[in-house]
Order: sequence, then structure tokens, then C-alpha cells
Amino acid sequence: FHLFSIMEGSSILRRADCRAKGGAPGFKVAILGAAGGIGQPLAMLMKMNPLVSVLHLYDVVNAPGVTADISHMDTGAVVRGFLGQPQLENALTGMDLVIIPAGVPRKPGMTRDDLFNINAGIVRTLCEGIAKCCPKAIVNLISNPVNSTVPIAAEVFKKAGMYDPKRLLGVTTLDVVRANTFVAEVLGLDPRQVDVPVVGGHAGVTILPLLSQVKPPCKSWTGSATLSMAYAAVKFADACLRGLRGDAGVVECAFVASEVTELPFFATKVRLGRNGAEEVYQLGPLNEYERIGLEKAKKELEASIQKGVSFIRK
Ligand code: NAI
Repeated sequence: FHLFSIMEGSSILRRADCRAKGGAPGFKVAILGAAGGIGQPLAMLMKMNPLVSVLHLYDVVNAPGVTADISHMDTGAVVRGFLGQPQLENALTGMDLVIIPAGVPRKPGMTRDDLFNINAGIVRTLCEGIAKCCPKAIVNLISNPVNSTVPIAAEVFKKAGMYDPKRLLGVTTLDVVRANTFVAEVLGLDPRQVDVPVVGGHAGVTILPLLSQVKPPCKSWTGSATLSMAYAAVKFADACLRGLRGDAGVVECAFVASEVTELPFFATKVRLGRNGAEEVYQLGPLNEYERIGLEKAKKELEASIQKGVSFIRK
């Protein structure tokens, strides 16, 4: 076992060295909350992503075991584990992208807003670490309620004097992935061919799928994840990494600082580039049903944003 550990250790160092000497191009990605229901499959899928050269897995429990398991996958990324608050700074130092699925999920009967009290504090602590150790990293925030945790992160970053709205993105991809799947089912299409923009926020009535803008066009519409969320998070993180690499035309929906409505944050399509969300797209034409939905969404969203802002400013 001892020999195996030494061999394993040295092969990890060799691989890390090889990259440092200009081997395969890749980005350094940290997952905070990597041992959770979303974190584990997310870590597994990121280990399979050829754009990732180093993968840091941080959690307050079970990080070493998850790291050992994932590190045995014979793909390129070098995996390192970090357990508990004292190791947070090492987990974050040098990262290009930080994905945050840390926190408690909803239990039956709870709304995403019920999670506020616990998750707000967790997100604040993690974002203070980011401000200190990797202020230039792109942040993908998954912890709910996203409508409030993104404003919380923004306030923490403002306090630290490093807030760049382009680099802070609330992950709403699950809403898009679900909408694509449901619309494809109704229309009998391959979901990969369907593109439903989902705007507003990520809770209840704030989730507004713009069915009038679905590609290919359709007329009708019927109708807490971990595995599909991990898939959605990887889809979004991969888009962020392709943007960082300089690919053209990378467009996804995300909850970002925005001037599209009178609210300071709003989810719409954004173009991802070397600096994060480089362009925030307008809503496009809405039908009557969507216009009514938008007004409802804005009302609830405004309260959730305010709640997040007051949590830090109070
Ligand atoms: P989970 O409870 O299975 O995992 C959460 C992980 O976070 C645990 O491993 C826990 O130890 C860890 N954690 C707790 N406090 C931490 C801290 N201070 N620092 C680092 N890690 C910490 O929960 P699950 O199902 O993975 O969900 C995670 C979050 O994602 C929840 O807030 C949930 O509501 C949210 N979510 C967001 C979605 C979205 O579309 N944005 C979709 C589904 C869930």
C-alpha cells in the first residue's frame, strides 16, 4: 500500500509538472461543496472535461474520500482534496473557475427561500475566501436561493473591493436543461436541438421560460435535483471555460448583474468570454403570457435580491 501511495503521489506530481512545463492547456477549477449530492457527480464530470488540468475538491466533510475515488479516473486533470475551513485558502489559491454547490438542499415542503438562513452564511464565508485567494476567478454560484446568494456574493466582493459583475454568475442552467427536455418531449424532438431561453431568476414564478422564442418554433407547452443539476453545472462550467479559452459565440442563460430590467440582477442569455459574462442580451419580443409572467417574476425577484443585499449590509 505504501509503495502504491508513493507511486501514486509521484505520478500526480509528474502530471502536474508536465502541465506546468507547457503540456496540455487547461484551467484550474475548484468545487466548493464537492462531497454533496451535486458536488460528487459534478466532480466526476469535471474530471472528464479535457479543458480542466487541475481540480480542487473542497468540503467540510468527506472530501478526502471523494478525492481519492475521483483521482483514480484515468483522465488528464490532477485532483486534490481539501477538508474544512483551515484548508479553504489552499483550495482556492490560483483557481480560474470556482463552482459552488455548497449548502443545504430543500426538503419536501420547503421553498428555496427557506434555505436562506443557512446558505447565506455559507456563501458569505466561501466568497470571502475567493476575494482573498482568487479575486480574478469566474464564480459559478449554484447554492440556493440563487436569487439571493448572487446578491450576497456581490456585496461580499464589493466590500473586498474586487467585485467584477462579469465574473459572478448564478447558475440557472438546470431550468434551461429541463425546459429543453420538456419541450422536446412534447414536440417529439431531440432535446439537443431545442433551445428555450429561461429568464428572470431561479425560484418559483421568477423562472420564466420564453416559449415564444423557442428554437425550433413550437406552439404548445405542458408542463431537488442532483444528477441532472450536476450535468447542468458541467454544461455551464464548460461554457465558461470555452469562453476563458477565447472561443467565439458561447451563449448561455445565467443570473447576473444586469440592466435588462430595472432590477440589479436578472437571468437572461449572456455571451461568455475571457472576462466572464462579456455581453448581457436583451429579453427579445415577449408574448402577452410572458409579459404577465415577467411582472410577477420581477416582484418576487426584487424582494429576494433585497434580502440578500441586506444580509451583508445590515
Ligand atoms: P447536499 O447537502 O447533498 O450537499 C451539500 C454539500 O455542501 C455537503 O457535502 C456539505 O458538507 C457541503 N457544505 C456545507 N457547508 C459547507 C461549507 N461551509 N463549505 C463547504 N461545503 C459545505 O446538497 P445538494 O443536493 O448537493 O445541493 C447543494 C445546493 O445546491 C443546495 O443549496 C441546493 O438548494 C442547490 N441547488 C441548486 C440548483 C440550481 O439550479 N442552482 C439545483 C439544485 C440544487
